[in-house]
Amino acid sequence: MMKTYLSIIRNCKVAQRWSFSHATRCALSPSPSFWNCKRLMVRRLCTDIPTEDRNYYITTPIFYVNAAPHIGHLYSAVTADFLHRYKILQGFNSRFVTGTDEHGLKIQQAANAAGQDPLRFCTKVSERFKYLFKSCHISYTDYIRTTEERHRCAVEHFWTVLQSKGFIYKGNYEGWYSTQDESFLTPSQVGDAKDSSGKEIKISLESGHKVEWMKEENYMFRLSEFRSRLQEWLEGNPRAVQPERFHRAVLQWLQEDLPDLSVSRQRSRLQWGIPVPGDLDQTIYVWLDALVNYLTVAGYPDSHSQWWRAAHHVVGKDILKFHAIYWPAFLLAADLPLPQTIHVHSHWTVGGKKMSKSLGNVVDPLERSQRFTIDGMRYFLLRQGVPDTDCDYDDDKVVKLLNAELTDSLGGLLNRCTAPSLNPAQVYPHFCSDSFPSQGTVAHKGRAVDEDYHMLDAVRALPAVVEQHYDSVQVYKALEAINRCVRQTNGFVQRHTPWKLGSGDGMDQLWLDTILHVSLECLRMYGTLLQPIVPQIADKLLSRLGVKPEEKSWAALDFLVKYQGKDCPFEGRALGPDTGVLFNRLERPNAEKGKPKKAKKATKVKS
Ligand code: MSP
Repeated sequence: MMKTYLSIIRNCKVAQRWSFSHATRCALSPSPSFWNCKRLMVRRLCTDIPTEDRNYYITTPIFYVNAAPHIGHLYSAVTADFLHRYKILQGFNSRFVTGTDEHGLKIQQAANAAGQDPLRFCTKVSERFKYLFKSCHISYTDYIRTTEERHRCAVEHFWTVLQSKGFIYKGNYEGWYSTQDESFLTPSQVGDAKDSSGKEIKISLESGHKVEWMKEENYMFRLSEFRSRLQEWLEGNPRAVQPERFHRAVLQWLQEDLPDLSVSRQRSRLQWGIPVPGDLDQTIYVWLDALVNYLTVAGYPDSHSQWWRAAHHVVGKDILKFHAIYWPAFLLAADLPLPQTIHVHSHWTVGGKKMSKSLGNVVDPLERSQRFTIDGMRYFLLRQGVPDTDCDYDDDKVVKLLNAELTDSLGGLLNRCTAPSLNPAQVYPHFCSDSFPSQGTVAHKGRAVDEDYHMLDAVRALPAVVEQHYDSVQVYKALEAINRCVRQTNGFVQRHTPWKLGSGDGMDQLWLDTILHVSLECLRMYGTLLQPIVPQIADKLLSRLGVKPEEKSWAALDFLVKYQGKDCPFEGRALGPDTGVLFNRLERPNAEKGKPKKAKKATKVKS
């Protein structure tokens, strides 16, 4: 039984590798032979995987409640939400957790400064995050707050396991601490700076936050013992931390100093946290407390294994060390499996600078998603965000990008191809293989030209290309590929001017229907692939095409089956009734008003 299972997995992996590389090769150099490619593994994969292996568990970092949510927080959440929706589309059983990180000195100080009881303070800000996520269609299945009872039980249990296995001991910590980062630093991580009043201070070289010297008796975790096991894990799993530059960064850190880690603070200094079991004079270090949230939701300590073995984390680059060194070390110490993948993303800056209250450049994600629409913001963040490098947020860039790609390109294509003037019957038109014969057909007299065949090749290859980029969370590359195809389809329509074919001539009518059929098939691909990014827009598009809910999955990405001589279930079906605009054109921000309008030009976006 076990042998069969292993061979299925092995075969799936081999086939999957074959399919990606082969399909991608075909996509990069489209040729007629692409139509003879084997069916993509993509659509076989999920059903081949045993049910218990179809689980997928995705998490966001839990958010600090010392300040209101900003655009960077929404980016972490949208990235995880995209992965959750994508996996569901592929037939996985996905669970998605987000929530708030409510303990620690930073929160204690923020609540004190606000003159509020810490729990009430936390509840208020946690509700703001929850409201933002609900408003932006972040489809989490669990929301965790570290002040919940279920979490306290999980943390206490986890601590007791680490202690009983001898990985926690009482010691003296003396060194630098940053309250803003809730992080201990070695001397080489600290530098000199001056505060706003000109006073000399020490700061963390990485975050720029102020650090203070602390000397305390507290509990230490034997982190130094885990160096080689962590190196083995990373070397044996080259995709454990993605993108690769962050994987390399973690391996580099592991060559540096790796002292034991202080995992508690004296209660006299930190009251707002979970007390160390059996020692009420100490409070558990907030990062240990926070990281365990991922286990709490998975059902730790009683029923976590089903979900825990399918765990994937989305994290910003600033918290990589905690997730790729401390967390795996804690898990190894507790004899628990390590996460499958840590997906790291870079940061959003504004005007080239880190967002901060003092600079007044904090971008409010709720206000922007009201102004630019929810799907508009989701699209912008995932289209413009590049995991490897920081990106600069700019309202004008949002407007230009969305108008170019969602309103003009995609919306324009839908509008043209479903217009009652071209399609008075409002049905999915028929494909005529005499007008668009398979390439290679001897002496074909069709009306399609070489570029049309190239477009078909590109769209046919698109799901595999998109899948590869979605899997590695290089979403901007997937969206760039989709956009390239949308442009090709617009070019196809433009080339054949279907609006000039309505003469009633039988052949012209067949060709007109074929142009529309091919274009709607392209749109059906784009709508299906875009569902995890812009769920509302994709739904509107697919509904307009008359696609039924059960036809929206990844398995339904069967492009233009009529071209392959098979029956198409959509032909002759009534189009959906919603003829509204797919994405309304946005106004340029105020600063631009009154300026003379420039000539319309394609927006330049990262590729
Ligand atoms: N509470 C910790 C995480 C604990 S997880 C066990 C924390 N919270 S945070 O609120 O400061 O950050 C949450 C997420 O937002 C992190 O992934 C962080 O990288 C991300 N971002 C914060 N500022 C950001 C930008 N300016 N841009 C993009 N993401 C950024 O860290």
